Amino acid sequence: MVHRFDAIVVGGGGAGLYAALELSPHVNTAVISKLYPMRSHTGAALGGIGAALGNLGEDHWEWHMFDTVKGGDYLVDQNAAEIMCQEAVETVYQLEHMGLPFDRTPEGKIAQRPFGGHTRHYGKEPVRRSCYAADRTGHMILQTLYQQCIRNSVTFYDEYQVVDLLFSEGVCCGVVAICLETGEFHIFHAKAVLMATGGFGKMFKITSNAFTLTGEGVALCLNHGIPLEDMEFYQFHPTGIYKMGILITEAARGEGGILRNKDGERFMERYAPTLLDLAPRDMVSRFIHMEVREGRGIDGKDYVHLDLTHLPKDAVESKLAETCDLARTYLGVDPVTQPIPIQPTAHYAMGGIPTDVDGRVVRDEANTPVPGFYAAGECACVSVHGANRLGTNSLVDILVFGRRSGRHATGYIREADWPPLPEGPDASARQQFEAILSSTGGESVGAIRKELQEEMMDKVSVFRTGAGLEAMSRKIRELRDRYRKVQVRDKSKSYNTEMLEAWELGSLLDLAEVTTLAALERRESRGGHFREDFPERDDANFLKHSLVYRTEKGLELSHKPVTITRFQPQERKY
Ligand code: FUM
Repeated sequence: MVHRFDAIVVGGGGAGLYAALELSPHVNTAVISKLYPMRSHTGAALGGIGAALGNLGEDHWEWHMFDTVKGGDYLVDQNAAEIMCQEAVETVYQLEHMGLPFDRTPEGKIAQRPFGGHTRHYGKEPVRRSCYAADRTGHMILQTLYQQCIRNSVTFYDEYQVVDLLFSEGVCCGVVAICLETGEFHIFHAKAVLMATGGFGKMFKITSNAFTLTGEGVALCLNHGIPLEDMEFYQFHPTGIYKMGILITEAARGEGGILRNKDGERFMERYAPTLLDLAPRDMVSRFIHMEVREGRGIDGKDYVHLDLTHLPKDAVESKLAETCDLARTYLGVDPVTQPIPIQPTAHYAMGGIPTDVDGRVVRDEANTPVPGFYAAGECACVSVHGANRLGTNSLVDILVFGRRSGRHATGYIREADWPPLPEGPDASARQQFEAILSSTGGESVGAIRKELQEEMMDKVSVFRTGAGLEAMSRKIRELRDRYRKVQVRDKSKSYNTEMLEAWELGSLLDLAEVTTLAALERRESRGGHFREDFPERDDANFLKHSLVYRTEKGLELSHKPVTITRFQPQERKY
């Protein structure tokens, strides 16, 4: 079946919905999503969206930009960060006007809370910059944008998995998708395609990411010759529920929560005397691991406590309602009276599909755009996060650049002719699925995925070494050999999740391989990438973005410069 839309948006999270909202008044727009949009991972960004509104103390977008650049350990492209921090303010007011139920100050302004790494006067003291709706901000954003998209008559293809991208003479001209309910292949012919497929945290064992975050949008780009940028930088959020990884929002620390070791000590006083528990995430995650390694984990185990028990019960239960629910449900712990066991959890990819500030996917070191092809949100790398993202800047990134992509794509679509579809557009995708369904190799999806996740957690997470990364590269080669023999028992068409998981596993292996290669080649420590064998930042040799290409010879690494405008690299102390 062939469908025709001016614009196809792949992914129904914050970036995809905001792009669709911009496109839909002007051009015929469809959103294809493997989930119902309300279940997208944007909902996991709980604690707020950063914007220098200055509602609870002086603030300026320049300070927000400085924090973003310093938080990203100076690998941020500053032209992009400048746009993001300026447009954050307008974006938040737009959400307010669309009806997003932000918490309010007593005067009725949008309430704001402190968040990690956000400061005033260029690092002097914490600032209240995160605009929030209790600790459900991401959910509220999804609800708000989805309602507006419905009002604009956006067509939604929910529970459709995109399995291939279509190009004709270098121009993007559509996608191929499987309808999960029927198992049928659908061809979507379009003038522009916008990828907003989110992240790929499922390559790690402990993650805040849902089962669906397997990165196939990013892997499809890699396998169509688009390089992936800065993939070595993967963020571990300091506070995941112990052993489960489910996110306990940073807002818990923004509201006054304290991290404590087995001695009850507020250990962040030793590591970050100015920002304490609200230092950037890469640092806090590393310090939690150091406490554990030095024997100060709770009961000698690999976790510490997040303590909210000194905070007023009413404040905890109203401003951190979701946190209370999660701790009570999954741990049987009441945060009002008991500390919450937490450990760092794989949360967010700083790297991804390279784009310019209008969301155009670029295909090389010279930033040459691919006509008709856009990306925004976590799957993309416009490079506003550099080596480490600040909390709340995910929502800013996805909305500011989702919106900008939608606007740019609208203009492009108006001017562009219809590109032809290639011959046999769904042939390659059909072949891949037929191979999975007919395999008799005997290897199980679950076993390979489990081993990948455990090994990535062990060797490519908060601490890394050259030896560990080399061992991981060998492991991925071995898992790839086994993956070729993967066999599924379910041969049915409708909701064949075993078949889809087998296909998704291929993407996880691709992205783990790229991440490991880029991490091995970056022989320095910067932001979320900490090499125990190269513990210092090395600007002389590594103040540059990595690009990994899939070529006929295998993966190849290249680099491009970082755009530095206002803030020269400095030592990163908090
Ligand atoms: O902790 C949090 O609420 C997560 C927010 C984010 O990732 O930006």
